[in-house]
Amino acid sequence: MNNGAAVQVRRRTRLWRTRVRRNRSLIVAFKIGRKIILYCYHNDTISKMSKRDWSVHPPYLYPDYKSTGLRAPTKPLMQLKHTLSELTGPVYGNDAISKYDNDLTKNAIKNGEPLGERIIVAGKVTDEIGRPIRNTLIEVWQANAAGRYIHKIDQHNAPLDPNFLGAGRCITDNEGNYKFYTIKPGAYPWGNHPNAWRPNHIHFSLFGNQIISRLVTQMYFPGDPLLQYDPVFLGVPEKGRKLLISQFKLDLTEESFALGYEFNIVLRGKNETPFETK
Ligand SMILES: [Fe+2]
Repeated sequence: MNNGAAVQVRRRTRLWRTRVRRNRSLIVAFKIGRKIILYCYHNDTISKMSKRDWSVHPPYLYPDYKSTGLRAPTKPLMQLKHTLSELTGPVYGNDAISKYDNDLTKNAIKNGEPLGERIIVAGKVTDEIGRPIRNTLIEVWQANAAGRYIHKIDQHNAPLDPNFLGAGRCITDNEGNYKFYTIKPGAYPWGNHPNAWRPNHIHFSLFGNQIISRLVTQMYFPGDPLLQYDPVFLGVPEKGRKLLISQFKLDLTEESFALGYEFNIVLRGKNETPFETK
């Protein structure tokens, strides 16, 4: 299914009916046209989600990261009770993903291969007690090998690559595993302070089983000398930083083709992968 068709399916998908069973598991029925799809959410998924450990996440306001001063809340946050829709959807299926969505070295080819160092980024997505999170959508976006995004705001004096879009997505398999093929992103200047450069990084967005397990974060590379100067990375409390650095894995490498990096992700709980600095 191409992207246009996938969008059409999402538009036609609607929540049809919900029913709570005696054991408190929840049945949710979606209708896509005339087709009905049932999902069962078990009691433990719905009611036992623990609170976030905010000590591993960055604060809303981190003065060295200047734009946080413009967007951080100025009043104390109010906690709202979770609603049913936050505890169930979103739900995605493999039919929304097309063949090369997880291969950024191929998904935007126009007249040749994208330039740069090919890499593989793979890992496992688990919940707070280590259970695999299946069929969850992972989206990634990144700069090209020269450190440039295809975006009108990005005016960095580095070349665009006509064969590299810098965006991809995939769905985790039954064991919670995912895999992307891509090009190692370059560092880029960002004007936060004199001579400010972002370390090589890939942006990640995950939905998980519930909207409240949504995570938006950044993956870094081991040994990057720019990490020690980067306020986005340093805004994450020290004990959470290592969770954002991928590990080089020789067994993920494909001989004569690409190096491999492992990046495991935990949604919610005390071992949760930290958010990016907002
Ligand atoms: Fe970025």
